[in-house]
Amino acid sequence: MVLCATSLFCYCLQSSLAGYHLETDHLALLEIKAKITDDPLGVMRSWNDTAFFCEWHGVTCSHRHKRVTGLDLQSSKLTGSLSLHVGNLSFLKQLQLQNNSFTGSIPSEIGNLHRLQYFSFSDNLFQGEIPESISGCSSLVVLDGSNNRLKGRIPPELGSLSKLQILQLSINNLTGTIPPSLGNTSSLLKLSIGRNKLVGKLPKNLGRLKNLTFLSFFSNNLSGVVPLSVFNLSFLTTLDLGENHFDGSLPSNVGNMLPNLRYFSIHNNQFTGLIPSSISNASKLEILQISSNKLQGQVPSLEKLVMLSELLLFDNFLGSGQVGSLNFVSSLVNATNLNVLDLSQNSFKGNFPRIICSFSMLTTFVIDNNMIGGEIPSCIENLADLQLFNVWGNQLSGVIPLSIGNLHYLEELDLSFNRLSGYIPSSIDLTKLSVLSLSANSFEGHIPPTIGHCKYLLALDLSYNNLTGGKPPELFNLFALSTALYLNGNNLRGPLPSEVGKLSNLGALDVSENMLSGVIPPTLETLKGLRKLDLSRNNLSGKIPDYLGTFQLQLLNLSYNNLEGNVPTGGIFKNATGVLTAGNIGLCGGLPELKLPKCNFNIQKRRLRQKMTIIFASLSGFCAVLLLVFVLVYAFCCRKRNKEPITSDDSELSLTNLSYKSLVKATNGFSSENILGSGSFGTVYLGSLNHGRKVVAIKLFKLEHHGASKSFIAECEVLRNIRHRNLVQVITACSSLDYQGKDFKALVYEYMVNGSLEDWLHPEINRINGPNYASRNLNLQQRLNIAVDVALALEYLHHHYGVSLVHCDLKPSNVLLDDDMVAHVSDFGLAKFLSKSTSEFNSNPSSSMGVRGTIGYTPPEYGLGNEVSIYGNVYSFGILLLEIFTGRRPTNDMLKGSLSLHHFVKEALPDKVTEILDPALLEGLVEDEEYNCMMLEALISILGIGLCCSAELPRERLDMSDVAAKLSSIKNKLPSYANCRERANISL
Ligand SMILES: *[C@@H]1O[C@H](CO)[C@@H](O)[C@H](O)[C@H]1NC(C)=O
Ligand SMILES: *[C@@H]1O[C@H](CO)[C@@H](O)[C@H](O)[C@H]1NC(C)=O
Repeated sequence: MVLCATSLFCYCLQSSLAGYHLETDHLALLEIKAKITDDPLGVMRSWNDTAFFCEWHGVTCSHRHKRVTGLDLQSSKLTGSLSLHVGNLSFLKQLQLQNNSFTGSIPSEIGNLHRLQYFSFSDNLFQGEIPESISGCSSLVVLDGSNNRLKGRIPPELGSLSKLQILQLSINNLTGTIPPSLGNTSSLLKLSIGRNKLVGKLPKNLGRLKNLTFLSFFSNNLSGVVPLSVFNLSFLTTLDLGENHFDGSLPSNVGNMLPNLRYFSIHNNQFTGLIPSSISNASKLEILQISSNKLQGQVPSLEKLVMLSELLLFDNFLGSGQVGSLNFVSSLVNATNLNVLDLSQNSFKGNFPRIICSFSMLTTFVIDNNMIGGEIPSCIENLADLQLFNVWGNQLSGVIPLSIGNLHYLEELDLSFNRLSGYIPSSIDLTKLSVLSLSANSFEGHIPPTIGHCKYLLALDLSYNNLTGGKPPELFNLFALSTALYLNGNNLRGPLPSEVGKLSNLGALDVSENMLSGVIPPTLETLKGLRKLDLSRNNLSGKIPDYLGTFQLQLLNLSYNNLEGNVPTGGIFKNATGVLTAGNIGLCGGLPELKLPKCNFNIQKRRLRQKMTIIFASLSGFCAVLLLVFVLVYAFCCRKRNKEPITSDDSELSLTNLSYKSLVKATNGFSSENILGSGSFGTVYLGSLNHGRKVVAIKLFKLEHHGASKSFIAECEVLRNIRHRNLVQVITACSSLDYQGKDFKALVYEYMVNGSLEDWLHPEINRINGPNYASRNLNLQQRLNIAVDVALALEYLHHHYGVSLVHCDLKPSNVLLDDDMVAHVSDFGLAKFLSKSTSEFNSNPSSSMGVRGTIGYTPPEYGLGNEVSIYGNVYSFGILLLEIFTGRRPTNDMLKGSLSLHHFVKEALPDKVTEILDPALLEGLVEDEEYNCMMLEALISILGIGLCCSAELPRERLDMSDVAAKLSSIKNKLPSYANCRERANISL
């Protein structure tokens, strides 16, 4: 009896205690439900009292005690926060919240769940910090919080979770360093903390995680040398160190230490040295990504990497410009799964590797920007799956093999900037092609009509070749063409066909520098999406159609045609910097800035001439006096200018330590309105510093662009050391991290108010912002001053500065003009130092990248593989000089068959000089025999110097000191008569 009563009592006590616990879980679940604010799928509908809570959707209970052990609400489109009462579900083992829209923070009460083994809340919007109390979840095996908005540090307390096998916190905003205590989570198999904002070095302790198979730090701001112990984690199948700032070299036995590796990436760091030959021993590698580092030397044999599917080596200094540097490609022949091979932006030299024809699985083959010559083999057709074939910026010659037409899956074909010739094969009728660029080669003949079959083509660039004939109407069936159609710089004839109206999605159309005739077709009106339209330097006639004033154009270049009549005033025509109309004798009206005559033009012109003759006659007596005054004033100015100290002034001192933040402020957050120009390695912004007291130009390097950071280093190296009146002055460099924690590099220069010589010689260049050139014509005096300035700068670089420095990219856009129109040579991103004694190629990293420069200005011997020399620079200067006075780009040489600018000038000298001069200079000639004679004499001498500088053989070229002296003497002799005439004009 007693016994019975006791057991009854016990039973009652147990069941009421159990009831109490049941009630705790029940209440906790109701609290959790209460925090759910939106449940579009109705998954919580069953959470009501018609059923016991163990039967509610997503709830699992233990059999005996009916305690909640699992809660699975994944992928339920739930919105709301996680109730802190979750901490009362003290029997919980599994909590799955992934793939919802939970916000708020992870409640610290989670730390009460010491039975919790599996906790996933990935793919939500959780904020705040990871609670330190998480260390209370001592049974945790899996913790997955990736893809949320977590911030703060990784709690060192995680280190005490000795059963943890999987820790995933990637894609959050975590900051601080990686706690060394993580090395204590000795069961860890997978550690994934990529895409955060972690800084500092990798702790050596991580090497204690001997069981790790997956380790990713991808895309943080980690730095320093990666501890050897990390490369010694021999079970690793994935090691991703990409997109950080790690440096040092790869350990020579890396391939032996990591025999299980399948995925290895160090992409976008600062690793130096060689690729260790042991890498081939990591024979399970499928993806090897060592792109965008500073690795150099020969690539070792990779013959054991037979599983390789992607090999990404781009943007290093690999190959070191040595012949045979592509030999390693043959070692890949057993990698029968190779899909992607990207060797671009290195210094590989040699013939096109024919062996790739046997890589039948290849979908991507990219070797742009190397020094690869030879021909494209016709066996390329074996690559039946090829989608991307990009070889631009090499030295390939010969023709495009017809068999290229068998690459039916090709989406992008870029052969531009090579030395390919012959006809464009009609077999290029590839229906999947979206980008086709054959620009800057020597292709001739007609545009094959079959290009019209490439019906998904978005961009077509055939510019700067020797193409002739009309434009096949089929070309205009390319309805998809939306990005651009570039046919400029060819010898195309005939009218612009009315079919052009079919390209109604087109954004940019450039047919400039051809021989097109006829009128601008009315059907062009349908191309309402055009942002850029360049019809310049053709023989187009008729009126400018009014509809162009209704387009959303940003650039309209109609210059140097035979257009006539009234210039419209709507749309783009309201913006004098967006419209170019020079060199059309018959145009009139428009905005005053266009400087066109009023529309009763012919009468006006006659009157003007009469008036000028009269004034000239009456002024001739004053001329001597004016001349004297001018000489005195000029001499005074010169003296004053020379006396000005070349060193920096005080205000600059305060600028030497600019932060990213101050540059953001200076440029209105790098606003597009501040853009002055843009090149392959960077964008130049107008900025104002010191509360608007100092106007500067800020070049922001596009670091995502291969080679940009090398260009930054080269430019820093040069500008740190040199100062000259005719070199652009760098105020400071800024290399830090931006607000996203990405690498940020910028150079701050003196701002050159008058832009670049390019803007003055070829004002059609797309300049939405920047100086407003009231008059874009340079007179003879100004052109000569600029030439002398550039010559003096080069003389200094070649002969007066410690070691010889070769600019390597001299061209009009790199000659900047200040408010006095004094020229300053800029952009040393490709410059190279030559040691003075030997003229040998210095092997510092900034100079070991391949020579590129700009087509047309690079001397012929560079193409033959010769090293950079000061004579190469003299050649570029010669071309620049010819361009300054003829107004013709070297890439415009097809105007006269296949002649170069050099030959074009040579043939015309001296008798036909007026036929080749920039027409704007001829406008400067007046009806005065003596004056004209003097001018022409000066011009012939100048062009003669240009010819001597651009001689085919380096040894025949002049020395820069001679050039500077000769040009200066012409400048001094040039009669200030010119000035006299200008005064006469001003007083008109
Ligand atoms: C309560 O839950 C049951 C299932 O357990 C469901 O059939 C019923 O519709 C729910 N009631 C309400 C009011 O949502
Ligand atoms: C990180 O924070 C920034 C702003 O602080 C925010 O724009 C960004 O979306 C956040 N990223 C993630 C993954 O939460």
